[in-house]
Amino acid sequence: MSLRSTQFDGVFIVTDKDREALATKSLVRGQSVYGEKVITIENESYRLWSTRRSKIAAAIKNGLESLPIQPGSRVLYLGAASGTTVSHVSDIVGERGIVYAVEFSPVSARDLVFLAESRENIVPIVEDARYPSRYAPLVTGPIDVVYQDVAQPDQARILYKNVRTFCSLGSWAMVAIKARSIDSVSETKRIFDREIMTLQDQGLEVSSRVNLAPYERDHEMVTLRVAVDL
Ligand SMILES: C[S@@+](CC[C@H](N)C(=O)[O-])C[C@H]1O[C@@H](n2cnc3c(N)ncnc32)[C@H](O)[C@@H]1O
Repeated sequence: MSLRSTQFDGVFIVTDKDREALATKSLVRGQSVYGEKVITIENESYRLWSTRRSKIAAAIKNGLESLPIQPGSRVLYLGAASGTTVSHVSDIVGERGIVYAVEFSPVSARDLVFLAESRENIVPIVEDARYPSRYAPLVTGPIDVVYQDVAQPDQARILYKNVRTFCSLGSWAMVAIKARSIDSVSETKRIFDREIMTLQDQGLEVSSRVNLAPYERDHEMVTLRVAVDL
């Protein structure tokens, strides 16, 4: 078994025989969060990062060119669910970074809150991402990256409301757009284009677009940068 770095700080590739998998260095030694395999190499723990369970991993596997989530980043994560991807983001940002994780389903949030008990860099917030002013008092300091995976028909609007509340010129946004939550009949590319245009009209500049097939059907990961004073 061998390990090598990728172009993204905090993201690794583990090779075992002929098989390769993405991995993050675990902030909590030996911890498996959602049943993923944990391996030890040179006295450090690494958690395999599933492209089927996590859209950021799928985007990386499909050629994402830059990842604004880095060691030390301050991330606002919308649609945290039980914390599967949040846990890898927590690994990447490390002890100097922080992940404010917003989830409105109390059932999913139970596991998220439990996860945060073992990871000091996760702040679980059980709230609706449509109303950022409700949780703004819990978010102390500026946000470098808003990541959004909510699968809602008004994804772009929810994202922009949060960007406007927490970000400034030069901040980043990443959104996993789920075409079929927005429009069940139109061609997917047209749906993605429409959502992106809504964000561009508000001053967000597209940095990259990555389709997530075959890991996620009808999804695109879009990375944007705030290009105006909000
Ligand atoms: C596709 S799942 C997220 C999976 C998660 N990002 C991961 O990779 O581990 C979408 C989540 O967004 C949550 N969600 C949907 N709308 C929301 C909203 N308005 N505010 C907060 N959470 C929301 C859902 O309850 C669900 O848990």
